[in-house]
Amino acid sequence: MLCAAFFTPLTNPVLQEACVDQAPLWLRLTPCAAGRSMKMIHIRDERVGDHQTRECLLDRVFGESRFEKTCERLREGRLPAEGLAFVVEKDGQLVGTVRLWSAMIGGQRDTLVLGPLAVDASLHGLGIGSRLMRRALNRAATLGHHSVLLVGDADYYARFGFSSGLTQGLTLPGPVERARFLGLELVAGALADAQGLVEATGRFSDPMASLSAVASGKSSAGLSFPVSFR
Ligand SMILES: CC(C)(COP(=O)(O)OP(=O)(O)OC[C@H]1O[C@@H](n2cnc3c(N)ncnc32)[C@H](O)[C@@H]1OP(=O)(O)O)[C@@H](O)C(=O)NCCC(=O)NCCS
Repeated sequence: MLCAAFFTPLTNPVLQEACVDQAPLWLRLTPCAAGRSMKMIHIRDERVGDHQTRECLLDRVFGESRFEKTCERLREGRLPAEGLAFVVEKDGQLVGTVRLWSAMIGGQRDTLVLGPLAVDASLHGLGIGSRLMRRALNRAATLGHHSVLLVGDADYYARFGFSSGLTQGLTLPGPVERARFLGLELVAGALADAQGLVEATGRFSDPMASLSAVASGKSSAGLSFPVSFR
């Protein structure tokens, strides 16, 4: 199990890797991989201007069906969690993306939901997805988050410590294959006995959506109005 100690700088391989991540990726690949991809690749925080190219990448990787996924219900109309959206650039082109989203379990426990994670098909197998995941998880731990949930291939995400055993008591706002519903504890015990529905709590991307949600009594997340307005 990953725990807070695991995410302590100096002793923690994830954080050590994050320091190495400051160098361009091709410098950190094995000589063989670097030989195949000597062009500059680096991971950075997502910017507003990345929107269009990021959407194109996701269309290429997942197609239109991506909007039908249950996890999309936790993302639609929201902004990613602060400081937790990353992209991979190669020669100025956006070739990878990952985001994490604020959520709450059973109305009591804060968590993050990760996704989508995507790397351009021409660059698969170079370790980019792993570096992106480690950068994202490291940042989440550094920012004080306690746990991360996602829906994805257990065979891939197990290498980062994700397990379906941690989500047994959880439900999502839609159907999900239990074996693909995975959790990771950034702090030991963060998902212990966790039960209930996972609901989005992130800031709204459209201020009008936040107004109507509050008016309907659904949410107060993401608002910065005077207390009397709430
Ligand atoms: C999943 C993805 C992000 C991995 O990116 P990547 O840069 O190729 O990953 P890495 O180079 O770090 O890791 C490659 C390893 O992951 C394995 N892998 C990749 N996708 C996998 C999957 N869906 N299930 C199991 N293993 C997978 C590869 O076989 C390879 O294994 P190896 O290390 O034993 O050789 C990329 O394949 C992708 O964008 N896929 C399409 C979108 C997707 O499936 N996103 C994740 C949602 S579940």
